[in-house]
Amino acid sequence: IYPGADQACAHVADAIDKLLRTRQQEGRPAVLGLATGSTPVRLYRELIRRHREEGLSFAHAVTFNLDEYYGLDGSHPESYRRFMQEQLFDHIDIDPANTHVPDGTAAREQVFDACQSYEDAIAQVGGIDIQILGIGRTGHIGFNEPGSGPESRTRLVTLDALTRRDAARDFLGEENVPRHAITMGVGSILEARQIFLLAWGESKATIVAETVEGEQRLAVPASFLQRHKACTFCLDAAAASHLT
Ligand code: F6R
Repeated sequence: IYPGADQACAHVADAIDKLLRTRQQEGRPAVLGLATGSTPVRLYRELIRRHREEGLSFAHAVTFNLDEYYGLDGSHPESYRRFMQEQLFDHIDIDPANTHVPDGTAAREQVFDACQSYEDAIAQVGGIDIQILGIGRTGHIGFNEPGSGPESRTRLVTLDALTRRDAARDFLGEENVPRHAITMGVGSILEARQIFLLAWGESKATIVAETVEGEQRLAVPASFLQRHKACTFCLDAAAASHLT
């Protein structure tokens, strides 16, 4: 628990910084699992600052994003591909070919294979070293809404009504929010070697407490993070305020 989000982000940036520098020396890829949304923006800002001011290089980084809205292509202003370009990739020295975001435009009959290929690509580079997560008020990680089990894999999902309502402002109206998304599964996420879940603000306090202190259950998919050996919740004081 940190006084504010900036201190929490500095801690997570330190871990990513260390991984990137170590792997650069070893000449091996550093594999990062990334999230979108408002939560990781400050972390990405800090990574960009370190790149510009402290010589932090992403030349050996390979990234996999958790999710993408189904039906949006990468040029759509609300697509997660576009978000990642604007918030991180366009400002660092990462090879664009090493950045992966699920393809929201795959035809229905190709989605299953596309999801399998996404998992294969992660496996081919040796799995995710550090996974960054936010949390939705439904208890989702990625877009694994209530009902998503610990064995779930990358797949097409239906978004929860609360998640669509939370996204309505960005899309200028709930009716414009896509109904489906492609997301890595809870099981895919649990295979990362190290996980940092970030949460800021009072609006996340209830779901954070249920996730950390409640039973592991399908109603709160993030609760399955309790079974991971190296998962850290990095919270500001407000997001931690309902913990007992
Ligand atoms: C985004 C993602 C989602 C968000 C969650 C919180 O890639 O996977 O699980 O992390 O919806 O969103 P924000 O950060 O906007 O509160």
